[in-house]
Amino acid sequence: MTSLISKLNWRYATKKFDAAKAVPHDKLERILEAIRLTPTSSGLQPFELLVVTNAELRAKIRAVGWDQAQITDASHLLVFAAWDDITPERVNKMFDLTNEVRGFTNEGWEAYRQKLLGIVGARSKEENFQSAAKQAYIALGSALIAAAFEDVDATPMEGFDPAAVDEILGLKAKNLRSVVIVPLGYRATEGDWLVDLKKVRRSRENFITEVK
Ligand SMILES: Cc1cc2nc3c(=O)[nH]c(=O)nc-3n(C[C@H](O)[C@H](O)[C@H](O)COP(=O)(O)O)c2cc1C
Repeated sequence: MTSLISKLNWRYATKKFDAAKAVPHDKLERILEAIRLTPTSSGLQPFELLVVTNAELRAKIRAVGWDQAQITDASHLLVFAAWDDITPERVNKMFDLTNEVRGFTNEGWEAYRQKLLGIVGARSKEENFQSAAKQAYIALGSALIAAAFEDVDATPMEGFDPAAVDEILGLKAKNLRSVVIVPLGYRATEGDWLVDLKKVRRSRENFITEVK
């Protein structure tokens, strides 16, 4: 059996995808489910995920994405779009969902709802967006690990104009802002300058401090 660590060594920020190969439905669904299961602060899940396969839209995104070919060559493009604000409506919706799913209300939980409403209400819209964007990045981590687990190539990407992508995908009308994108697919057999280069990470000693 291949270990998770060997798969994390196998994965890399793919530079050239094979445009003829598509991620099968079952693998895609498991990657999406891993993203959906990502934990978030207070369980708010303050972002949405768009799975873009439309060729025309992806060509437009590539044009505002540093002309990165992965955006059009991969079979699927994930767009992580954070809430543009953490409004009382959005907070209440998640707390109400918790009550509905668990089938009971709880005094402590309701007190926490009020506390959180106070916290997000005291922050600016931009601060709330930045907080939501941080949560989207946790899901980005899930996506990358899940893709590697499924032997699917993925490239995390910040190299695009978020306002332009929002315009292309109509995100403003949904009170969302794009944060990070991830093409999913399979590496091309030729033409990727990165595929055979060694992975570069700081050593364990230079990265981890054990505080005993
Ligand atoms: C948030 C984030 C944004 C990134 N943006 C891009 C990008 O726009 N284009 C690209 O080719 N790689 C991008 N990368 C890939 C990184 O350069 C790469 O993950 C890093 O150098 C580590 O290499 P590895 O992923 O191959 O192990 C990004 C990575 C992250 C995590």
